[in-house]
Amino acid sequence: MTERKDSKLWGGRFERAPDARFGAFQRSLVFDRRLLPQEIAVDRAWAKALEQIGIFTATEVKETLAALDKIAQRAESDPAWVESFGADAEDVHHFVEKALVEELGPLGWRLHTGRSRNELVATDFRLFVICAAAQTKSSLFALINALLAQAKGKLGVPMAGMTHMQHAQPILLSHFLLAHAEAFTRDLTRLQNAAASADACPMGSGALAGNSFAIDRAAIACDLGFSKITANSLDAVSDRDFALDYLFALSGVATHLSRIAEDFVLFASQEFSYVILPDEYSTGSSLMPQKKNPDCWELIRGKTGRITGALVGLLTTLKGLPTGYQRDLQEDKEALFSAHDQVDDMLAIATGAIKTTAFRDDRLRSLASDPALLATEAADYLVRKGVPFRQAHDLVGKILKEAESQQKLWTELPLDELRRISPAFAEDFASGLTIEGAVESKKVPGGTALESVRAAIVDLESRLPREAGAK
Ligand code: ARG
Repeated sequence: MTERKDSKLWGGRFERAPDARFGAFQRSLVFDRRLLPQEIAVDRAWAKALEQIGIFTATEVKETLAALDKIAQRAESDPAWVESFGADAEDVHHFVEKALVEELGPLGWRLHTGRSRNELVATDFRLFVICAAAQTKSSLFALINALLAQAKGKLGVPMAGMTHMQHAQPILLSHFLLAHAEAFTRDLTRLQNAAASADACPMGSGALAGNSFAIDRAAIACDLGFSKITANSLDAVSDRDFALDYLFALSGVATHLSRIAEDFVLFASQEFSYVILPDEYSTGSSLMPQKKNPDCWELIRGKTGRITGALVGLLTTLKGLPTGYQRDLQEDKEALFSAHDQVDDMLAIATGAIKTTAFRDDRLRSLASDPALLATEAADYLVRKGVPFRQAHDLVGKILKEAESQQKLWTELPLDELRRISPAFAEDFASGLTIEGAVESKKVPGGTALESVRAAIVDLESRLPREAGAK
């Protein structure tokens, strides 16, 4: 038998080379090269573990670690080298082995002792997701802070709160902004959960059955920053639940972004005119000179589809897989990378747009002054005078109908007309009937009264996880 000199990963039992088109079809280096930093980290930990069980001498491990560092540096400073040197490499794992052999000769082939690409890819991908989730958390934290800053700056500005897209009751603009901030804090928790589900190290699982060299799995996990090892080798090589969890968390972020986007698209319309769109985040029309379009929000809303699509795509890939590693699993990466990148852009752009949006307090206040918004206050007034709520609701309905038939605002009806409908109305009624009064009456925790909103800001700030503010 001759000593092998090529850098192929497999082929001993093959007579013919792969079909060229199939060769390209099955390669993943084009996208999994993104896992190179994780791959190198895992290789380093594995090399040290091989020394502990006597596969590598101290010198060999030193040489291997130095070569791995060199490969990492070269790949970082010269991305074109990855492409050219890796032109015939199947994936990132093959690429590093090829580069190691180039550096070290046959010693480079020893690193793969007792391990499989199946466990490597699962480990690399888990490390990626842990890091990606932390990055998304800090981008989300920036957005929550931008919402908080606007909420603090706009304290006291009323707006027409809506249900079913119809004027409902007056609220504070800050209350509206904090509603979105609250939704985003739930996403922080989901991202945290995704990172927690990725936090177990598969190394030592082999291709499916485990490791026969008594490798120290706990030491490798610890070296890589995992808090534990995976429990079952067969499960570990095919489990992508951590990727699903991350995609679910990203879908949550994107969905919340899409909802705030919808609000701001409406707010920027001539009908609402609640906001002046920042030039930095808007575009014009090639035809209509007057146009300033809320494209940043429309694109955020539009791109949400592909984030949800990535989640559904991976669920679909996983649903029919038999036990153990299957090559279908290679499909897990591209959509997740892209979803991560998209959400990162969406968060940065939403944060910038929130920071630079000018609210038109006059316009918000004027729409909040619609007397219809105070109808519930009138019913509550009657309740305070002892009228049962259902009856009060009905009486106010009659007042509204009467005003409509007289083509008047209901707040213009004189007290004696109101008293004809219900004698419970008294002198103190009209004076208490203001937007401010309506807003201020919602003093419960979580309500829209100024003091409740102030307390909500303090509460939200105290709940924001410290680690999310790392960036
Ligand atoms: N490129 C593969 C992936 O992303 C790595 C594992 C390949 N394993 C194998 N036995 N072909 O899933």
